[in-house]
Amino acid sequence: MKMIDLGRSGLHASAIALGVMRLPNLDRPRATELLDAAYDVGINFFDNADVYSNGKAEQLFGDALKKASFTRDQVLIQTKVGIVNDRKATHRYDFSKEHIVDAVNGSLKRLGTDHVDSLLLHRPDPLMEPEDVAEAFLQLQNEGKVRQFGVSNFNPAQIELLQQAVPQRLIINQLQFSLMHTGMIDAGMHTNMADARSIDHDGGLLPYSQQHHMAIQAWSPFQYGFFEGVFIDNDKFPELNALLQKLADQYTTNPNAIAAAWLLRVPADVQVIAGTTKPARIRAIAEAGDIALTRQEWYDLYFAFAAGNDLP
Ligand SMILES: NC(=O)c1ccc[n+]([C@@H]2O[C@H](COP(=O)([O-])OP(=O)(O)OC[C@H]3O[C@@H](n4cnc5c(N)ncnc54)[C@H](OP(=O)(O)O)[C@@H]3O)[C@@H](O)[C@H]2O)c1
Repeated sequence: MKMIDLGRSGLHASAIALGVMRLPNLDRPRATELLDAAYDVGINFFDNADVYSNGKAEQLFGDALKKASFTRDQVLIQTKVGIVNDRKATHRYDFSKEHIVDAVNGSLKRLGTDHVDSLLLHRPDPLMEPEDVAEAFLQLQNEGKVRQFGVSNFNPAQIELLQQAVPQRLIINQLQFSLMHTGMIDAGMHTNMADARSIDHDGGLLPYSQQHHMAIQAWSPFQYGFFEGVFIDNDKFPELNALLQKLADQYTTNPNAIAAAWLLRVPADVQVIAGTTKPARIRAIAEAGDIALTRQEWYDLYFAFAAGNDLP
């Protein structure tokens, strides 16, 4: 399994990680089975959030961890806060010091651990006051509750705004990124052109992340659209799936591993956050950690995307 020093922080994480957003689909024994399967193939990083099923995902993860074949200190646990759990709340995001600190305390209790290895702010809060966040981060760090900090779904300007206030280096940005969600790449390839793909939707996230050695955690690596479905083995995308299968045969692996290896081939600290709930599937995806696609294969996959990634 390929390992990544996340944001050059000393957090040595597997390039394939398991996200537990969908864990509540399982009962506790099956959740433990999934965590064990992940660990057995070299996955040492687990992504949570307080908002997943209103805390149920963290609770189940914590419960499953107690029965797992590995111990807490053999793995890295991440959670995310900042989205208000109450769907009826009129304010959607809350980056106040009080909310962040309380949310982390709630997460730690559910996860059954005294610290998380990394904490991300889940989605940018337009009412963010960076100094307030800085106070929260400092308190959480001083109390030993959080080792490293990062963000999710932030653009470079939002990161800079926060970074100038917080003393800790922000080491991770978790973003939607897959063969079917390539905005980060398209805009750079279409710079100064007038077509739709030239539109910069993210403020230059890819070169920013590369320059600042900020790890990109790719969420929904096998989905298209916004949770519209899985593109692997999906009849809507015949050209892409034919190529995934061809390369899978060539590398003696499977299409999932090729799709994940495509993300890992990008010269940034990319970590794939897979969300499967099936032991067999996480074992298949983990094979990506040993595959290095060639430059030609990477481009062939990019251009096989049925919606048409054209070459300028
Ligand atoms: N930061 C954010 O805003 C954000 C947003 C969304 C997600 N996330 C994180 O990213 C993680 C992954 O997200 P995700 O679950 O949407 O990602 P995903 O790995 O792309 O999708 C997994 C889902 O697709 C299903 N699936 C069906 N066929 C599949 C196939 N051939 N290959 C792979 N999956 C297949 C899985 O079902 P089975 O369980 O049956 O395999 C599962 O329900 C989450 O757990 C969470 O940690 C973060």
